[in-house]
Amino acid sequence: MTNPITNFTETERLYQRALKTIPTASQTFSKSASNYVKGASPLFAARGKGAELWDVDGNRYIDYTMGLLPVVLGYCDPDVDAAITTQLSRGITFSLATELEITLAERLSALIPCAEMVRFGKNGTDATSAAVRIARAATGRDKILVCGYHGWQDWYIGSTTRYLGVPEVVRKLTFTFPYNDATAAERLLEENRGEVAAVVIEPMALTPPARGFLQALRDLTSRHGSLLIFDEIITGFRIDLGGAQKAFGVVPDLAAFGKAMGNGMPISAIVGRRDVMRYMEEIFFSGTFGGETLSIAASLATIDKLERDDVLPNLTLLGATIVREIRTLLAEAGLDRSFKLVGDNWWPGLLPHPESNHDPVLLTSLLRQELIANGVLMGSTFNFSFAHAEPRILSETLEAFRRALHVVSTALASVDAWKCLRGEPIRPVFSVRTTTPPQITD
Ligand SMILES: Cc1ncc(COP(=O)(O)O)c(C=O)c1O
Repeated sequence: MTNPITNFTETERLYQRALKTIPTASQTFSKSASNYVKGASPLFAARGKGAELWDVDGNRYIDYTMGLLPVVLGYCDPDVDAAITTQLSRGITFSLATELEITLAERLSALIPCAEMVRFGKNGTDATSAAVRIARAATGRDKILVCGYHGWQDWYIGSTTRYLGVPEVVRKLTFTFPYNDATAAERLLEENRGEVAAVVIEPMALTPPARGFLQALRDLTSRHGSLLIFDEIITGFRIDLGGAQKAFGVVPDLAAFGKAMGNGMPISAIVGRRDVMRYMEEIFFSGTFGGETLSIAASLATIDKLERDDVLPNLTLLGATIVREIRTLLAEAGLDRSFKLVGDNWWPGLLPHPESNHDPVLLTSLLRQELIANGVLMGSTFNFSFAHAEPRILSETLEAFRRALHVVSTALASVDAWKCLRGEPIRPVFSVRTTTPPQITD
């Protein structure tokens, strides 16, 4: 039995140093201190290998965050790293386009149903923003309907509680509707008849699509002359090699891919119907690093391996096992009314139970704190990589959960469970995805 992880001395030293020059001490909200119980969590990584991450204090974790989902094969995957190294010896960013761009565009086009044409970006935000600009150019309309999370740009973030800095005129152009509510989308399209350029939606996040929901959006957008844009930044190269559009058989006009397509290298793609993508010739979407070759080489190697080793079905099987085992452990710890397994086996989530009497912030903070103490680094979801399929990783994970859940259960039974936190609780940035999805079935 290993001792709980309690030493975060170097994390604390680096945190204090970072705060002097880096607002939030991180480049990404979801990786910043606000997501962790301060003083009882690592904030800085030193290295990773496979499914494991070592922090700057030398503590080792099985990582279920995996860089917020891009690392689909595992840290330092030998095949991807070899592709990067080979390309590195030839050069990184050139003065001209390269054949690699054509090869990757052809590869995406062969895999993804709507992808007649393809352009590349670096972040998911590049891809969703390019898609929205194309839609506005193609329709001559300004308004956008959104559902899910789509990045940090004005047209999206202005519709959330984090709208500070977004002009009011821009905020007025974006409307949100709840997932699986085609009637709400229809009402907005009717109320803004002839003015909606596109409906942008994560085709699936933690809630599976209700029967007919995605097809209803397809029909509604076609009828209203608006484009349907699938934000496949998460579903892409996870739910299916052809994305959610392949998995659910509904083809959008445009789609955005990113995250898992490069196993951690910064690359995204806007793909779509030829006649619509042609607007790329008239709008402005252009960047110095759009054709950066290390990421493109990494993406080709990642997709090759995902296909060759049939990785995605294996990850879904792993998800089914994890869900089954964790459900048993929750019941054994008497926590099945405190936490709820949600989502689908390709991307399961573990959220505070909506019917629990405990504050969700307390539940999340306690669970995150005790998982870390037992060597599991995790947010609200199981972000698998191929490296997690190793049996040792699964058995260590389940043992860590068993111990962590026991401590959480004891804490919740105590007079003041908040006192069991060894630092400040987490502070969620905002919530954009439905949190009351149905429980997973095996
Ligand atoms: C569904 C979805 N769309 C868009 C984005 C934005 O991608 P990025 O953070 O790479 O800009 C994200 C990021 O988490 C996402 O999950």
